[in-house]
Amino acid sequence: MPLTTVLTERLRLTHPIVQAPLAGGGDTPALVAAVAEAGALGCIGAAYLAPAQITEAAREVRARTSRPFGVNLFAPQPVPASPDAAPVLARVAPFFAEVSLPPPAAPALPADAFEAQLQAALDSGASVFSFTFGILPPAAIAAIKARGMFLMGTATTVEEARALERAGVDGVVTQGSEAGGHRGTFATEFETGMIGTVALVPQVVDAVRVPVVASGGIMDGRGLAAALALGAAGVQMGTAFLTCEEAGVPAAYQEAILTAREDATRITRAFSGRPARGIVNRFMQEIDAGGEVLPFPWQNALTRSLRAAAARANRAEYLSLWAGQGTRMARRQKAADLVARVAAEADAALGRLRRAPVSR
Ligand SMILES: Cc1cc2nc3c(=O)[nH]c(=O)nc-3n(C[C@H](O)[C@H](O)[C@H](O)COP(=O)(O)O)c2cc1C
Repeated sequence: MPLTTVLTERLRLTHPIVQAPLAGGGDTPALVAAVAEAGALGCIGAAYLAPAQITEAAREVRARTSRPFGVNLFAPQPVPASPDAAPVLARVAPFFAEVSLPPPAAPALPADAFEAQLQAALDSGASVFSFTFGILPPAAIAAIKARGMFLMGTATTVEEARALERAGVDGVVTQGSEAGGHRGTFATEFETGMIGTVALVPQVVDAVRVPVVASGGIMDGRGLAAALALGAAGVQMGTAFLTCEEAGVPAAYQEAILTAREDATRITRAFSGRPARGIVNRFMQEIDAGGEVLPFPWQNALTRSLRAAAARANRAEYLSLWAGQGTRMARRQKAADLVARVAAEADAALGRLRRAPVSR
């Protein structure tokens, strides 16, 4: 029996499951549409896409499904002044040589495209708009609401959730410390925002009135059942969707997730300059071992060509292998099967719990 929550009702979903936006290419239109067709919410992680690419990705999703989907951007950040890149260039140069790239040059940032990205997202046909890394400017929030989109922001602490609610979001995505990818923390040091999902979700549920979507380490129906028991209205899953057949990540990345133990990930600044959880590989080990990295987004720009070359060559040792702590539960499967399985497992888990005493 489908699990009905305020999220499924507000967003017209069959299952209270959100495919996390996966900026960097994991969330292909095929993945987003397959998730939507399966009755969950697929999301386009648009933060690294040019406005025209957002428009095209959304067009492809709409061509494949008429069901609701979401779009996601990073809240605009103050960009630190151009740093002295020389010491960091020297540290990453050997990796560039290993993949036959010319020595790295001082990174350049593209012109700020947030306003044009926002406009493309508003025009995308998405019915949900989510964001991370902060709070959107009031004018952006007003424009999103004027379109009737359901607005969700990411919180890693209770205070961040409260701030998002005050800013007018319709829902809060909690990002537990188990989560793969960049930390969304914006109101405190990232270390302070490292709260596990089991502790974070009920405290945020108690603090805000809007629906809460739990993310971080949720990979199967047991996780969904647990999140609902903690008071969440649904779950957002990233790592679990990365190993789906429709995901747009290199085979070596999927293989790294599928063979990773629960202790295989850690938080690093090595790839982007912003703390993010990924599977430890040689690049991370050597760059984290000592010496500085550039602040976000400069380090991200610096390592972009290395990561792209590694993706082309299917070389996991230079890729940012963003993944959460639930890796042992990852499977290779179709996105529709993942959604159906998570929903059925959650239903079964809840049924089992009703038949006390609890046993395996
Ligand atoms: C590869 C990857 C890319 C991500 N990109 C985004 C993004 O663009 N926007 C966002 O809000 N969250 C992003 N996230 C974070 C997810 O929203 C979510 O917090 C996380 O995946 C949950 O933990 P899990 O991976 O254990 O399921 C990303 C996560 C991963 C693994």
